[in-house]
Parts: sequence; C-alpha cells; structure tokens
Amino acid sequence: MTERKKVTLPMLYKKYREGDLITMLTCYDYPTAYFQDQAGIDMVLVGDSLGMTMLGYDSTLPVTMEDMIRHTQAVRRGAPHVWLIGDMPYMTYQPSVEMGISNAGRFMAEAACDAVKLEGGKEMADRMAGIVAAGIPVMGHLGLTPQSASALGGFRVQGKSAAQALRIIEDARILEEAGAFSILLEMVPDRICQIITERATIPIISLGSGAVANGQLLIYHDMFGLYPKFTPKMARVYGNAGEVILNGLKKYVEEVISGAFPGPENYFGISDEEYNEVLRQLS
Ligand code: KIV
Repeated sequence: MTERKKVTLPMLYKKYREGDLITMLTCYDYPTAYFQDQAGIDMVLVGDSLGMTMLGYDSTLPVTMEDMIRHTQAVRRGAPHVWLIGDMPYMTYQPSVEMGISNAGRFMAEAACDAVKLEGGKEMADRMAGIVAAGIPVMGHLGLTPQSASALGGFRVQGKSAAQALRIIEDARILEEAGAFSILLEMVPDRICQIITERATIPIISLGSGAVANGQLLIYHDMFGLYPKFTPKMARVYGNAGEVILNGLKKYVEEVISGAFPGPENYFGISDEEYNEVLRQLS
C-alpha cells in the first residue's frame, strides 16, 4: 500500500484555508474503500444511500444503525487514512438530542469514524449542537435531503425559488453556528451554493450544486455505472464497471456451459502415488 498520512480535521481545514479543493466520495465496502484510500480521496462518506446502492431498497428510509455500522466497519478496514464520515440513518437522531448523541457515539466507538453526518437545517440545530458538544465532529446536509424526500416532493433540486434559497442560506448559517465542521449541499442551484460558500467559514461540499464550493462529492456507484436503476444528472461517469462486470458474468455462464471453464490452472491435482492408493483402497 502506498504510504499516506491519516487525514485529520486540521489537515482538512488547512486545505480549506489555502483554497485547495477537498475530494469526497461515498463508499460502502472493503475493496472499494481500499482503492479510494489508494487514490488519495480526502473524505469518505458511508452514506445511508447504501440502502439503495447496496441493499436494493427504493429509498434510504429502511436503513438501520446495524446496516450502517457493519458497512462502515468494512470501509474503515479498507481505508485507514481517509476522514471517515458515518451517515446517521433515518430516525436515529430526529426523535431527540440524546438519541442522536448515542447513535453518533456508536459510529465513533464501533466503526472508528472520524465524524458523522445528519440531514436538516434549523430544526436539527439542537441535534447538531448536542453531538458536537459530546466531542463528535458533525457534517450538515442541506438542499435535497433524501430522508425528507416525501416532504420535499421527491428527489428534486431544492432552492429554486427565492424563498427556498433564502431558507437554505439561513439554515447553513445556523448549522455553522451549531458547530458543523462542514456542510454538504445536495442539488442546490450553483449560484446559491456559491453564496453559501462565500459566507461560510467552514468547508462547503457540493453534490450537484456547482463548481464554486470547497470540495466535491459523488456517489461512487454513479461514477462507474454500478446502479442499474438510473444515473442522475449530477454524476459524471468515469468508467462503466457495470458493463465490464455484466460482460464477464455472461462469459462465465457461456464457459461453464461449454466446458471451457475451469482450465487446469483453476484446480488442484493429487500425486499418482496417492491417487493409486485411493483406488487400491476403494477396490
Ligand atoms: O447517503 C448518502 O450517500 C448521502 C449523499 C446523497 C450525500 O447522504
């Protein structure tokens, strides 16, 4: 493995102060985490999007703390150097500050996270402040917040009206005041993201919210054609691993049926002496 220093909060803030852009991806499993760590990604989010990308649900709502902890542990084993963020699943912080603190604590203690992320603005500021006061760095998440997709009218751009945009700008200020170390803006118009980035004194990360931010996040599965249902507009496809895998699987099916697989290099033999002894004892 290439030597790499463990990413820390001071390192992220140094990048931020010096105007270096921060790289962030989602990740849910050990081998992908290994490659992301090797590629030099700064921040990795084990998103509750794993409900859709890994578990095949239609939304993130059924994801449990147990699902999140299991996947986050695997990611940490593969990516020991990244700044690792555990995504608080639906209803693990909304009911109370205490519940938020204890579930955030599980991410830190059981999955060796560096931080957690929670969705929501003003209405979640006390959860944010409580978790931060417990000594856990928290990332905010504004704009399209998938756990509230039903209330937001679906998976759609947020902040297109002036009233909505002003609310998101104010929410960003409130989350920063509540102690967020960074805020993710998902599917917010680019000029609104720019205003928030220019006003904030913490890193603002864009997911489909334009280029003027302190860093970018993509959903890993969207980058490599690994989510069969759709690829969102905000994703850029860097390679079609899904196609490579499907073609490989079809070839495997063909080769098993035709007898072309396995070849002698794929199995194990026994010496003539031992084999003859087997035959002798069987006869
Ligand atoms: O769950 C997730 O991956 C997320 C991203 C969409 C930001 O929250």
